[in-house]
Amino acid sequence: MNFHLQCIECKAEYPPSHIIYTCPKCGDLLDVVYDYSELMNIDLVKLWSKRTFNVWRYRELLPVLSRDPVTLNEGGTGLHYCRRLGELLNHPEVCVKNEGENPTGSFKDRGMTVGVTRAKELGSKVVICASTGNTSASLAAYAAKAGLHCIVLVPSGKVALGKLAQAIIHGAHVILVKGNFDYALRVVRKLSSIYPLYLLNSVNPYRLEGQRTIAYEVYEQLGREVPDVVVVPVGNAGNISAIWKGFKELKLLGLTDRTPRMIGVQAEGAAPLARTLRENSDELLRVPNPETVATAIRIGAPVNWKKALRAVRESRGTIITVSDDEILKAQRLLASTEGLFVEPASAASIAGLAKATSQGLVDRGEVVVCVATGHGLKDPEIVLKMTPKFVELQNAEEIDDFVRALLGNSYLSKTSTPTALGLQTAAEHSIPSSS
Ligand code: F0G
Repeated sequence: MNFHLQCIECKAEYPPSHIIYTCPKCGDLLDVVYDYSELMNIDLVKLWSKRTFNVWRYRELLPVLSRDPVTLNEGGTGLHYCRRLGELLNHPEVCVKNEGENPTGSFKDRGMTVGVTRAKELGSKVVICASTGNTSASLAAYAAKAGLHCIVLVPSGKVALGKLAQAIIHGAHVILVKGNFDYALRVVRKLSSIYPLYLLNSVNPYRLEGQRTIAYEVYEQLGREVPDVVVVPVGNAGNISAIWKGFKELKLLGLTDRTPRMIGVQAEGAAPLARTLRENSDELLRVPNPETVATAIRIGAPVNWKKALRAVRESRGTIITVSDDEILKAQRLLASTEGLFVEPASAASIAGLAKATSQGLVDRGEVVVCVATGHGLKDPEIVLKMTPKFVELQNAEEIDDFVRALLGNSYLSKTSTPTALGLQTAAEHSIPSSS
């Protein structure tokens, strides 16, 4: 499909051959604009149904020229119907879109497959980003696949270990910055304006286009229906904007006549958008020192704030805040009731749904999709930190006592003794030393 870039404010237009991230005339954000008329006579759903369930299933709607995208088979993530969680939240119709199932474990891969493909098309040799962790992990992997050099700037001491390990193993030049994500982003934006470094933060309009596929997939997974509400954790505010654009397009293309309400969720200590919306401010009300256990969304000056506020207002949604405690409780609840282990930022969507339900922002019968943005294994340290104490038992008898206490008498037959089970002690089981 034909596409070009357009400023979201002054509406100036630019051809796709220009390497720009913001409007050269007024400095505002850019959007990718398509000529949808080309698709009006095509049965898109039929076309899609013949293809693999991944991001490139929707290739007519992606802004690339190449027939050979840089891909790791991203997208096609599960939409999990969460009956047990729903019962506990008093909301029966909850589904979780589990973006941790992506190749590097987060939704960023949907954007990077498009963004890195564009980087190659535009002749770039080096890609760069600032990151709270997932963007760097994803960019490093896609740069490796494409054979491009990769530089990532991350806030020192504030990136989950798994994400850092990913960026390192994929061969990125990892630079730790003494400052938060907002500062790191300012630095990479400056660097990419001076040197030939292709910027792949979500200020890059092409990257966000890949993330629209979350909306298309949810639509297909719900049997060609859109949900009533979509709950998304918000950091730099690109994802909520991209998902909203995807749903609007489904309507524009005549595939549905409805769109969902978008509910963004921010951590209390990093909630610039929630406040900006609440106070109906025309300027972003920044948070100078954002702080939250959900390090992925520890952001005080979201670059896509205008797009995100438009998404929320147009969709008649809102932005709510949740505490760190609520986030960690939601993470444990989702993992222990549904078998889905997501990182703290992702659990903000579950905590957000709980809060939205209790505040009457979501009705009981409404179908809600919570976007779980990244995998829990990226940040195992937080789980261990929150685990009070391990049970450490020395021998078979103690273990037997423990299991009996756990099961309670009603489950046990009288003959089940340690001897009958033939258990050895830990000492008997150990390999004798050679001396
Ligand atoms: N959830 C996770 C797991 C994330 O990593 C991010 C953003 C978000 C939610 C928020 O998405 O920025 O589009 O509003 N992580 C970025 C990074 C900032 O650098 O990895 P957003």
